Amino acid sequence: MNICTIGIGYVGIAAALGFASLGHFVFCVDKDEEKIKKLNEGQIPIYEPKADELIKKYKKNLFFTSDIKSIADKTNVFFIAVGTPSKQDGSVDCSHIFEAVDEVIEHAQKYALIINKSTVPIGFNSELKKYIKNKTDIQIDIASNPEFLRQGSAIEDFLNPQRVVIGTKSQKAIEILKEIYAPFNVPNERFLITDENSAEMIKYAANSFLALKISYINEIAKLCEKTNADIQAIKKGLSLDNRIGDKFLNPGIGWGGSCFPKDTKAIINIAKENNIELKTIKSAIEVNQGQIEHFVKKITDFYNNDIKNKTIAILGLAFKPDTNDTREAPSLTIIQKLKEKGAKIKAYDPWAKIDTINQFESCKQALEGADCAVVLVEWEEFREIDEKEFLNLNDKVIFDGRSVFIDRNFKKYGIKYFCVGKNEQ
Ligand code: UGA
Repeated sequence: MNICTIGIGYVGIAAALGFASLGHFVFCVDKDEEKIKKLNEGQIPIYEPKADELIKKYKKNLFFTSDIKSIADKTNVFFIAVGTPSKQDGSVDCSHIFEAVDEVIEHAQKYALIINKSTVPIGFNSELKKYIKNKTDIQIDIASNPEFLRQGSAIEDFLNPQRVVIGTKSQKAIEILKEIYAPFNVPNERFLITDENSAEMIKYAANSFLALKISYINEIAKLCEKTNADIQAIKKGLSLDNRIGDKFLNPGIGWGGSCFPKDTKAIINIAKENNIELKTIKSAIEVNQGQIEHFVKKITDFYNNDIKNKTIAILGLAFKPDTNDTREAPSLTIIQKLKEKGAKIKAYDPWAKIDTINQFESCKQALEGADCAVVLVEWEEFREIDEKEFLNLNDKVIFDGRSVFIDRNFKKYGIKYFCVGKNEQ
């Protein structure tokens, strides 16, 4: 089938490559001409595993352009995957969706189906229907189709969805979407058709629940430190109950990224407009902010509150592994707090680059001459580091915010090791 995806961020790229690899022909539209130029040269403008390989492999099924007009007669199915950032007050800025929809309306020739993958406030897609009706006589259907992929495993997640949620009242839209998703072989019970509002709510409720789960485990981790319990054992004990499961129970320095912070704020805002206070989600945010303070305190406590002129090797900057994205990354706040207290930073991340941070080309270089090491992302390559690499740290101490080295025996080397949810070992 011929389809068009509008917006080439993480979701847009994964959708385009995913649909193309399953046999659809995908027209990818983005206003950013620089991005389009790169994509036409086979380059992916972000770091996302497998994307490089797939763009080359399926180039015959992909067409990249900034000009929607040039492809408007080739398809009538438009997936929108543009950004919906937070406004100052926590509400959602949907202006990019309107821009995309305006372009579709302007160039659509007969029937069109607009499928919204972007995360939008509840009721937005229904409003959009009215907006479109006032602008054109052409029949345009709207469907909400929230995306649940994670950055860092975007393509894998897109191709193997645990569920597909479609929110629409149009039977024609349902039929088209069934055809598009047929090659995914999603079992019937995991193909959920509902109304627009419910589909939108599922997305917010899912992200908030996951954020809540992480904040919960981080709070329990804090209590473990006080009670000499071991969060890793607690995690195992919890996860053996399949009502709880083993996912999103990794304690750490809190959740970040372009989704959880934005979506938790948004759902609180939506609730507020409806005179409801979402106390659990508010608490999850509060705990998340506190988690960073808690981790920084571990470092400053070790140095009796004086880290002035201490050189700190930071391992990892991205908001999670396998992405170069640093949006709302806990690393940024942690580094800022350490700098405010007078510490000097030497950082390393395999993919994320931040101009204002003193970065090095390898772990080894970042560790060289540093007083202590602070691990902020669980990149796979960090797991390979030999204990002896840390022997050169002047103060022989590691603060591991992601439990990367939890199973190592640093004591043997005279190195002190602090992590989250377990006392010094
Ligand atoms: C999240 C959701 O997991 C996706 O389902 C959703 O589609 C996406 O948001 C979105 O709305 O677009 P993502 O933000 O890419 O995906 O990353 P996650 O893997 O969910 O991680 C989010 C944050 O939680 C990261 O900072 C990560 O380090 C942290 N995290 C995750 C933990 O601290 N502990 C865990 O156990 C898991």
